Amino acid sequence: MAHRIGVIGGDGIGPEVIAEGLKVIEAAGVEIETVDYDLGGARYLRDAIVLPDEVIDQWRDLDALYLGAVGTPEVPPGLIERGLLLKMRFDLDLYVNLRPFVFAGDEAHAPHDFVVIRENTEGTYAGEGGFLRKGTPHEVATQGSVNTRMGVERCIRYAFELAASRERKHLTLVHKTNVLTFAGDLWERAFEAVAADHPEVETAYNHVDAACIYFVQDPGRYDVIVTDNLFGDILTDLGGAVSGGIGLASSANLNPDRTGPSMFEPVHGSAPDIVGTGAANPTAAILSGALMLDFLGETDAADLIRAACADPATQSGSTTEIGYAVAARV
Ligand code: IPM
Ligand code: MN
Repeated sequence: MAHRIGVIGGDGIGPEVIAEGLKVIEAAGVEIETVDYDLGGARYLRDAIVLPDEVIDQWRDLDALYLGAVGTPEVPPGLIERGLLLKMRFDLDLYVNLRPFVFAGDEAHAPHDFVVIRENTEGTYAGEGGFLRKGTPHEVATQGSVNTRMGVERCIRYAFELAASRERKHLTLVHKTNVLTFAGDLWERAFEAVAADHPEVETAYNHVDAACIYFVQDPGRYDVIVTDNLFGDILTDLGGAVSGGIGLASSANLNPDRTGPSMFEPVHGSAPDIVGTGAANPTAAILSGALMLDFLGETDAADLIRAACADPATQSGSTTEIGYAVAARV
């Protein structure tokens, strides 16, 4: 039976890269049935619509969501991010943000192959806080970090299970326990409790600032990393930068309990400056499509797509040329 995929091309280069991703999925022989959703900054400017609850409800019966990028410079910051992307992550309970980083190595750098598991529904992203006396000289703004034992533990548990399934079986907790003594303490205790259930997984801990150095100088030390929402956001841009560039960075927003569809999107944004120029690399979107196929049980097709993207012969030219080359290679 065909997998039913909701497609949100979104803004800027989003629709361009998603078109190539869909082309590659079809070339890999996976049967999909797509439903398009016109959402993002452009739709908001046109109709003042961001993401109605009815649309979220329609999505609950789909097998997955495939998203390009959302956001336009004309819309105030936060409106589309919170109203669409974060609403999807929260309302569909996509509590694992999985971002793989694979680098084959070059003259200056050793190869690496690691995955960041970023908690995706809590932390500073939860939206706790507000203003007091806004706009006055006595203005106060707070932005709290929400860490529930349930939310932290389920994310850590997913990371342990992933590490246990990989060859190296190694998991690093990244946090800032020396300063964030409340949140860090909860994360550390949850990590230790779940570790007791996984004696086969070797564990490590890094402060997030030190992890930034290791990402640049010795990323090969990592196998699986688990971290909170904001640390994971920042670290995964760095992960992209040290793994061939953000044009290759893919991500999966997972609801591992499968109580609804999971969502797959490239890490990069809508890049309005290069829309329509053919300069957008569709590889991040294509590899996000491969993560979607993994989650749908189509692992053979997903492996074929990853192998095609790893072949340097597919990786030059315009957006459509790269898409065509990868499709031809699978
Ligand atoms: C990401 C993005 C989002 C985030 C933004 C667009 C809200 O940077 O997916 O990494 O901060 O999570
Ligand atoms: Mn980010």
